[in-house]
Amino acid sequence: MDKKVNKKIEISLSNNKKIQLPIIESTEGPDVLDVRALYKESGYFTFDPGYLSTGSCESKITFIDGGKGILLHRGYTIEDLAKHADFMEVAYLLLHGDLPNIKEKEKFEKNIRYHTMLHEQMKTFIQGFRRDAHPMAVMVGTVGALSAFYRDSEDFSNSRQRLISTHRIIAKMPTIAAWAYKYSLGQPVIYPNNKLTYAENFMRMTFATPCEDYVSNPVITKAMNQLLILHADHEQNASTSTVRLAGSSGANPFACVAAGIASLWGPAHGGANEAVMNMLLKIKRNAKIKDFINRAKDPEDPFKLMGFGHRVYKNYDPRASVMRDACHNVLNELGRKNNPFLAIALDLEDAALNDSYFIKKKLYPNVDFYSGILLWALGFPLSMYTAVFAVARTVGWVAHWKEMIEDPTRKISRPRQLYTGHKKRDYIELDKRQKRKSIIKAISSIIKKGYQKS
Ligand code: ACO
Repeated sequence: MDKKVNKKIEISLSNNKKIQLPIIESTEGPDVLDVRALYKESGYFTFDPGYLSTGSCESKITFIDGGKGILLHRGYTIEDLAKHADFMEVAYLLLHGDLPNIKEKEKFEKNIRYHTMLHEQMKTFIQGFRRDAHPMAVMVGTVGALSAFYRDSEDFSNSRQRLISTHRIIAKMPTIAAWAYKYSLGQPVIYPNNKLTYAENFMRMTFATPCEDYVSNPVITKAMNQLLILHADHEQNASTSTVRLAGSSGANPFACVAAGIASLWGPAHGGANEAVMNMLLKIKRNAKIKDFINRAKDPEDPFKLMGFGHRVYKNYDPRASVMRDACHNVLNELGRKNNPFLAIALDLEDAALNDSYFIKKKLYPNVDFYSGILLWALGFPLSMYTAVFAVARTVGWVAHWKEMIEDPTRKISRPRQLYTGHKKRDYIELDKRQKRKSIIKAISSIIKKGYQKS
């Protein structure tokens, strides 16, 4: 990939040696200091747990300006995409770099539809789980297991096989999520119907039964499309970085996506939408908004206001405002304008945005603050919230996996560390270890007693 290097930073080392590190220009956002030669030139590693200042890769897919609250996919604003596009167009955009024309869209949708079914053996596989298994647990296992089913496209150096793998993963994800849900209910699975759109198919497989079909509603379908678009990608978040890291070794893409699902599950990431709804439920039952705000501000209390704050956004998450509007639209359509969860969420948002703690720390609602209410209005149970997120984010995961595999400069991801453990020491024979430990304990106790007397 062509990189522009116009500036360099000079670093003076303690031995009077000076080294120069190049600064690579970005098309948007901060330029980056290229530290790849740092260790070779200076003998130092960088130390950045949590990647607060570290870019882990070069990417052309998504750009976020957290300060201004801007999110672009391949240059298009998330607001425009959520308003005008459907999920398949956004999937194509993320994968291929441009919005499709009519023909390209038709072909892409046909390819995805072709792969919506799961191997019949997967039904037996899912039946191996406990009925009360979390759908995310079923998804991690099932998606990982798919790596054993498609032996015909394991050569990822072949662009066609790569493309088929990405289509298969995107196509099968709604089927897996819906079947995991059906299994938890004890209901028969519903097979995909390829006459429907991606969003409608997912809703039907989730909510239809053999005795009652799912009837699409354009307002609900639009909202589901928006929800999928809003969650489709978010540059190098924890789950996407996990997929890239796993894939950097050349691992099977189904296995890499299974790793991404595992990472997404946590409450600090995709599990937040479930946590937000649990919080709103608690507030609805008995608690006061003020108590939750106070708990979130208490440094002694690990509680955080779920759906607030973001590593990158230090402004309103642009996805949260689209999600809030989608909530209003769906609740109006369903005749539930005065929904108590939405009322609590709006009051909670208002209270937090006017509180000095949240203002000072630049904590704003993130995408998950309103997605829980929308999912609730659409009829999804709490346990499915993160699973729906996983269906949407799969598109981003495979787009990043594809970009990484196609990068000729790709290297296996192998971070270094700051080691603070023991220095080299001699091996002690097993029978001498207890004796040695007793001696150390006796000496420590003598020293402690002497110290107490003095
Ligand atoms: N409520 C109260 N205080 C908060 C919150 C919150 N939701 N979020 C951050 N803070 C405080 C932290 O306690 C910290 O305070 P300190 O400086 O006094 O120690 C400060 O703000 C900075 O927060 P960090 O946790 O250090 O920020 P980080 O970037 O590591 O974490 C995260 C971001 C994980 C999203 C965090 O804000 C959080 O846990 N939020 C709640 C969970 C959530 O909504 N997650 C969804 C994220 S969006 C997504 O994954 C789709």
